[in-house]
Amino acid sequence: MLRLEKVSRVYRTRRGDVKALDKVSLNVNDGEFVVVRGPSGSGKTTLLLSIGGMLRPTEGQVIADGSDIYAMNERDRARFRAKNIGFVFQLFHLVPYLNIIENVSLPAGVVKNRSGPTDVGELLKRLNLSERECHKPLELSAGEKQRTAIARALLNQPRIILADEPTGNLDPENADRIFGYLAEFNRSGGMVIVVTHGMAADRFADRIIHLRKGCIEESLENE
Ligand SMILES: Nc1ncnc2c1ncn2[C@@H]1O[C@H](COP(=O)(O)OP(=O)(O)O)[C@@H](O)[C@H]1O
Ligand SMILES: [Mg+2]
Repeated sequence: MLRLEKVSRVYRTRRGDVKALDKVSLNVNDGEFVVVRGPSGSGKTTLLLSIGGMLRPTEGQVIADGSDIYAMNERDRARFRAKNIGFVFQLFHLVPYLNIIENVSLPAGVVKNRSGPTDVGELLKRLNLSERECHKPLELSAGEKQRTAIARALLNQPRIILADEPTGNLDPENADRIFGYLAEFNRSGGMVIVVTHGMAADRFADRIIHLRKGCIEESLENE
């Protein structure tokens, strides 16, 4: 379903060019759970942003369902993103002056009390956030913030969740819960690509990919 064809990404800086991805080719099937690892600066975030249609490769193609997503115009790519992809980041990226319901509903453009693609109330219940739904991010624990971000990613019923060190700021217990939700999404047929340093997600992984200096150094099928 997702194919990367020799994707390279160069960042041009004042101190010269940085090659963050170097001819990365990769196939990920629907329903696959992929863990991405690699040292800091190896290109993990660049890879996720490229896959998610947020960062145009300098060379190569990202092909989803047969379409080159960077050959689309901005509007079609934005639509592709909204329909197919949910993002979860290490730093949550919640809007501080909106409460949980509003944060979760924001990207979907869902108006409160109108049924969106998913019932927001149901989703928050499933993520154990019901009692916090009118609270703002400042009033939440790190685990609650990240569960809010997961809810936001799930709301549109995407086909792919891209998660960039989603548990980097969480204790092991909350990290396990987050991976549990990603695993649940995966069991229902969703594709998960998650950058993570720990081993907590390994038991859910179909494949573990190691990046090094912008290249796939190793790609291991998981038992
Ligand atoms: N916006 C940017 N401008 C210049 N260089 C960047 C930018 N983003 C990332 N890089 C560089 O690209 C390389 C890969 O970065 P990144 O994808 O963030 O790696 P990782 O997520 O594995 O830490 C690093 O050398 C980083 O410094
Ligand atoms: Mg990163």
